[in-house]
Amino acid sequence: MDSNVLVGIEGFEDAGVYKITEDIAIVQTIDFFTPIVNDPYSFGLIAAANAMSDIYAMGAIPKTALNMVCFSPKRFDISVLKEIIRGGIDKIRESGVSLLGGHSVDDEEIKYGLAVTGIVHPDRIIKNEGAMGGDFLILTKPLGTGILNTGMKADMVNGDSVKRVVDVMARLNKTASEVMLSVRTHAATDVTGFGFAGHLKEMIKENVGIEIFLNNIPYFKETVELAASGFVPGGLYRNRDFYREHVTGEVQGFLYDILFDPQTSGGLLIAIHPDDLSKFEKTSLDAKLDFWVVGRFVKAPKGKIILTS
Ligand code: CO
Ligand code: CO
Repeated sequence: MDSNVLVGIEGFEDAGVYKITEDIAIVQTIDFFTPIVNDPYSFGLIAAANAMSDIYAMGAIPKTALNMVCFSPKRFDISVLKEIIRGGIDKIRESGVSLLGGHSVDDEEIKYGLAVTGIVHPDRIIKNEGAMGGDFLILTKPLGTGILNTGMKADMVNGDSVKRVVDVMARLNKTASEVMLSVRTHAATDVTGFGFAGHLKEMIKENVGIEIFLNNIPYFKETVELAASGFVPGGLYRNRDFYREHVTGEVQGFLYDILFDPQTSGGLLIAIHPDDLSKFEKTSLDAKLDFWVVGRFVKAPKGKIILTS
């Protein structure tokens, strides 16, 4: 392989990285999906924020984007597409990214997202592995969007809650990325389809373990009742079946299940040097970044997610 490929397809990293010069590498990613909320403008905001998230997770700065659209003008009014794109463009503008073009395909099922390119110094790429024993684990958005999206599809979520969860999903991980770059960050990733536990397992691999402070895990309060009423996405069960062997601790029920909820445009998981926690807290406060200290990496047992209260 070309030696300028710094991060390729083998490491389950968030995005690929290619070195252009000694000082600049490009970071590339693409993400798109079918509508998860009814309002097309909100869907556009969320899809664009989600597509840029992998760039932010690697400590890079997104620079350019291409629209990726599947839409059938025969099946839906063109105004729906205009609203989706308007949402995407508003988010692209907020991130300071330039939209260079895109591609659309006639497709009965709506899909929207972006291919995004960012830049980073080749020596300052933040990968999902690299956390060390003693590091604190920080999470920057509450969990539960998978359960809430399932409830919203069934019209079981009230308007205020819909607005709040849409706001969180549409929020860029830009500030979270900037704050993590202000401290000694050893590793980071974003929480998406594999849920908190799945993406955390990618961070620890067989290199370190982690103790999770269950009482500090943030989640949307609405999800407790929704999950009890059976509004649970299939992906949660698939994640739980797949990752449960790596999770230990005498915990069952909701607080256990929420760790496997697949997230849309979730927050960053950040492993920071233990001496930098207070600096992280102060910088977050100044930057108005929500965050929770949800765990601490341990040298052993390796590869395990240990639930503690
Ligand atoms: Co990711
Ligand atoms: Co992605």
